[in-house]
Amino acid sequence: MFHILSLLSLATVVLSSPLPTPAPVATPVKRDSSCTFSGASGAAAASASQGSCSTIVLSNVAVPSGTTLDLSDLNDGTTVIFEGETTWGYEEWEGPLLQIKGNQITVEGAEGATLNGDGARWWDGEGSNGGKTKPKFFYAHSLSDSVIDNLHILNTPVQAVSINTCDGLKVRNMTIDNSDGDSQGGHNTDGFDIGESSNVTIRHAKVYNQDDCVAVNSGTDIIFGGGLCSGGHGLSIGSVGGRDDNTVENVKFTRSTVTKSVNGIRIKASAGDTGTIKGVTYNDITLSDITGYGILIEQNYDGGDLHGDPDTGIPITDLTVSDIHGDGGIDSDAYNVVVVCGDGSCSDWTWTDVNVTGGEDYSECQNVPSTPGSCST
Ligand SMILES: *[C@@H]1O[C@H](CO)[C@@H](O)[C@H](O)[C@H]1NC(C)=O
Ligand SMILES: *[C@@H]1O[C@H](CO)[C@@H](O)[C@H](O)[C@H]1NC(C)=O
Ligand SMILES: *[C@@H]1O[C@H](CO)[C@@H](O)[C@H](O)[C@H]1NC(C)=O
Repeated sequence: MFHILSLLSLATVVLSSPLPTPAPVATPVKRDSSCTFSGASGAAAASASQGSCSTIVLSNVAVPSGTTLDLSDLNDGTTVIFEGETTWGYEEWEGPLLQIKGNQITVEGAEGATLNGDGARWWDGEGSNGGKTKPKFFYAHSLSDSVIDNLHILNTPVQAVSINTCDGLKVRNMTIDNSDGDSQGGHNTDGFDIGESSNVTIRHAKVYNQDDCVAVNSGTDIIFGGGLCSGGHGLSIGSVGGRDDNTVENVKFTRSTVTKSVNGIRIKASAGDTGTIKGVTYNDITLSDITGYGILIEQNYDGGDLHGDPDTGIPITDLTVSDIHGDGGIDSDAYNVVVVCGDGSCSDWTWTDVNVTGGEDYSECQNVPSTPGSCST
């Protein structure tokens, strides 16, 4: 019986096989399988197997130096869970240290899990302007209809999270804690850099760093809500200009706090370039311990703030600044509100309940739209 069946099925295979070579004998692809990877070989194994796991658990993975923990070829609907401490070896290179791409992807940090960049090994006070070549941390690129929940990122060598070419991404409860960089030379440790993306929502993020908390360089329909920014350069649009995509449209910062930072709110349009900054809203923002500018809106950015004559190539229109709580929140030698626009290139602004005080009034505001009318608060 057994032999007959075997012979029959063998015959069937032989007869029905049009291929000269049989398919290799391999573990069948189980799309519903959960795969766990750990230790020094975990990153390479996870990359190699990503197409055959529906859930990928990265448990205490130690990524070798000079390599990316690369999950850029995931099946639709894959879940990626970080457990324990994920670490990276040291090398001077561009990175990224982590890359995740795909559709309907869920990325989660388990309770107590950390992604520890141990950035102090690279920090030299120069960030991306010189010194050691520092790897970028996390490329969240080309993620669509996806969520990233509860990741706890520590001490990135330089910029932390790059969100680019995403459509439909929710980032919830992310912590980026580069606070060690305050005393150990962290620089250009941007929290979130967002470009060429649409429909991105970041809620309840906590960012402790030494550069922009959020910088939206281009994109549409972006929300940052319920966030905390500490130690850095505040909630920024831009710099806009000089990139492939120079359109920022419909971006909302809401219910957030910026503290111990150089700027609270900043919109940077590069002089000499063209683009659009339209429909940006800052609503219900609390500012405290601001050392440079409470609100800084400039059309004369050139890599540094407030350089030279403002330009009109990147109009700032339909801007709403409302419900800004910064009574006494600006240091006495900082500026409360600065608006430097080109002639006619800032218009249709709504400016209500802006209470940003404690610092100085800036005397060189230019072309301030009818609301607020002037820079004094
Ligand atoms: C925005 O993205 C979410 C997923 O994050 C999706 O459910 C929603 O339909 C998208 N909205 C639009 C207008 O594309
Ligand atoms: C975010 O954190 C809060 C508490 O800190 C928790 O209640 C909430 O469920 C978390 N959200 C997600 C999406 O895990
Ligand atoms: C602005 O702040 C002052 C000082 O704290 C406070 O008395 C005032 O009510 C605030 N105004 C608004 C509009 O929030």
